[in-house]
Amino acid sequence: MSKVAIVTGGARGIGRGCALALARKGFDIVLVDLLEPEMERTAGEIAAEGRKALRFAADVADHRRAKEIVDQVTKAWGRIDFLLNNAGKSMPKPMVEITEEEFDRTIAINLKSCFNYIHATAPVMLAQGGGRIASMSSLNAYTGGVTSAVSKFAYAAAKAGILGMTRALAKELAPTISVNAICPGVIKTELGNSLTQAREPELIKGIALGRLGTPADVAEFVAFLATVEPNFITGQDFKIDGFQWVV
Ligand SMILES: NC(=O)c1ccc[n+]([C@@H]2O[C@H](COP(=O)([O-])OP(=O)(O)OC[C@H]3O[C@@H](n4cnc5c(N)ncnc54)[C@H](O)[C@@H]3O)[C@@H](O)[C@H]2O)c1
Repeated sequence: MSKVAIVTGGARGIGRGCALALARKGFDIVLVDLLEPEMERTAGEIAAEGRKALRFAADVADHRRAKEIVDQVTKAWGRIDFLLNNAGKSMPKPMVEITEEEFDRTIAINLKSCFNYIHATAPVMLAQGGGRIASMSSLNAYTGGVTSAVSKFAYAAAKAGILGMTRALAKELAPTISVNAICPGVIKTELGNSLTQAREPELIKGIALGRLGTPADVAEFVAFLATVEPNFITGQDFKIDGFQWVV
């Protein structure tokens, strides 16, 4: 039987890279994203790797929709081996300007989304006797957000929340499900970030490996977490940042 991975935010960027790396490791992929044309493109690339893809247009902040999607996946494919909570968005805004709605939305997209998909998926993994979960945090969880001129405090709070949730769930769901977090540094996605682009030479000075990261840098590590055997890794957060220390 094929292994099955759910990748939220898998249409583009780091999520797309992870979906393709997992497909190359033999996973059929469930994509959950808001961007339908981009999802279609990524599904085509997964098919080119010889794997199947299911696509769901959904907002990861929607708890009920997460349950519906997981139900449909288990009906179609019978199991879920790996969940990658990758969808996220930074939406920088200083404390003195942010509204309650903007704060809630940042937490909903970046942190509650992880709860939504773990809440829906964990019972399936427990019933089948195994599974693995990884959630995309950020270096910002440690630094408070340094690559933007505008404050990312709400995003940093959500991403730090992922680390606490990861540690608690690693204990609660052990030994059946492993739960880890990934903390990328500055990753150059195909879309790019104009602010980061403008500051690239300055940013690189503070990165030991002398370059920004790529989706492949994160994806290869995620694929390792999804497949390494024997697996004695849970409750951890892994910085994938080329050792970025100043910016
Ligand atoms: N790029 C970086 O430098 C960097 C650094 C640290 C952490 N991250 C994290 O990595 C993850 C991926 O980021 P990226 O750089 O690839 O960004 P991206 O914007 O290129 O991709 C994010 C994907 O998530 C989807 N998404 C966003 N909000 C959604 C929602 N509410 N419902 C469903 N899908 C949604 C988007 O449509 C997109 O396909 C995010 O969680 C981000 O916070 C990125």
